[in-house]
Order: sequence, then C-alpha cells, then structure tokens
Amino acid sequence: MVYRLKKTYPQWQFIINGGITDLPTAQAQLQYVDGVMLGRAAYHDPYLLSQVDAVFFNDGHAVPTRFEIVEQLLPYIETEIAAGTRLHSITKHITGLFNGLPGARSWRRTLSEQGVKYPADIDVVRRALAQLKCKE
Ligand SMILES: Cc1cc2nc3c(=O)[nH]c(=O)nc-3n(C[C@H](O)[C@H](O)[C@H](O)COP(=O)(O)O)c2cc1C
Repeated sequence: MVYRLKKTYPQWQFIINGGITDLPTAQAQLQYVDGVMLGRAAYHDPYLLSQVDAVFFNDGHAVPTRFEIVEQLLPYIETEIAAGTRLHSITKHITGLFNGLPGARSWRRTLSEQGVKYPADIDVVRRALAQLKCKE
C-alpha cells in the first residue's frame, strides 16, 4: 500500500516503517520509498546503527566497537549527570547494545537496577562494562 501511495504521489516523501529489523531490508525499501525508519530494532539491537553511515552514506570511517561507543559516551554522560539528568534517561537507549554477547544479561541488569537510582553516578556504567565477558 505504501509503495502504491508513492507511485500515485511521487512528489511526496514517504518514509516507511514497521517490522524492519536489518539494514539490507531497509536498503531494499529505498527502491520504492524515500526513507526508512527503525523503531524497536534500534532498541533491541542499537549496534545495528553503527553500520548506517557506511551502508547508506558511503562513509569510510572505521566502525567503533561497542566498548568504544560506551567509552565515547562517558564524557557526555558525566556532563549530563552534572546537569541533573537521570542516568537511566541515557542508558535506557544502550541497554540492548551487547545483546547476544557473553555478559549482556549482567550489563542490562546492572544498568537497569543501579541506573534507575537517583542520583546514580557514572560508575554504574563502568561496573556494567566490567560484567561483559567480551571486548567486541
Ligand atoms: C522507542 C520508540 C519510540 C517511538 N516514538 C514514537 C513517537 O514519538 N511517535 C510515533 O508516531 N511513533 C513512535 N514510535 C513508533 C514507531 O514510529 C513505529 O511506528 C513503530 O515502532 C513500528 O516500527 P518498528 O517495527 O520499526 O518498531 C516509537 C517507537 C519506539 C520503539
């Protein structure tokens, strides 16, 4: 139906969403519509987003590991905590970052149990990282 709408109204922009969970599927949509949005997949598997620049925008930068992403996020988290932001407001977006890897469950548990306390400090994230049994 969405493809038909785009054919009927080619001058309009159509961004499709709903049930798209991987980048090849997202890319295939671009034959028919102008854009793709990921909803739940960005939460279940946020690391999926690390490939977006390379796949969709031909960006040749090295893709950071999950650990590097968290390390790069730490200064931002520190600034936000100092400004009164709840730690959980940030970490809820990366709870699924290590899904499927050894220690992911402890990572999630540490973030969700200790990260919701207010004020929660950045050591919660460091403790959660220490739960992981991988360096990917
Ligand atoms: C965390 C999250 C936040 C969302 N926020 C909005 C929103 O503010 N407005 C909206 O219309 N839909 C929102 N949605 C719904 C998505 O736009 C989308 O329609 C829905 O998740 C189905 O796509 P998906 O299968 O990729 O998840 C949200 C979905 C998620 C997972």
